[in-house]
Amino acid sequence: VKPKDAPKALWRKAIDGRKKSHSPYSQFAVGAAVLTRSGKIYSGCNVENASYPGCVCAERVAILKAVSEGQKQFREIVVVAETADGGVVRPCGVCLQTMCEFFSGDTLVWLGDAKGIRECFRFEELLPHRFGAGDLPKPKRLG
Ligand code: THU
Repeated sequence: VKPKDAPKALWRKAIDGRKKSHSPYSQFAVGAAVLTRSGKIYSGCNVENASYPGCVCAERVAILKAVSEGQKQFREIVVVAETADGGVVRPCGVCLQTMCEFFSGDTLVWLGDAKGIRECFRFEELLPHRFGAGDLPKPKRLG
């Protein structure tokens, strides 16, 4: 998939999401927007905390907003930021594991900035060797 095929509307939602970023500690604003398989869009921004481990990335905020509304299947996500060296921001390991819980291997991950989308990966390219639900034993029936 080429950046020229990027979903413009979803990119705009990610840009809008980024405007709400609560990032007084890092000064690094990130926005994200997900498109669910049912066609719904949820945006997110990073939300930091004075207790630093409490910081939550924009990707997880967008995904968890969707999941908390009953939407657990995703077509694509757009993530936008402005990095110091002008590159795109790639999802952190914690966000990749959250994606692993809900994304398919072919869910598209678009990465960009205020000017547009610059890169695209299938989720399976970003986390090819992953631990997921299928690795756990089947839960025993209770009672
Ligand atoms: N951050 C994101 O929101 N997404 C990423 O993909 C990378 C990092 C946030 C977390 C924190 O608020 C700030 O960027 C600096 O790490």
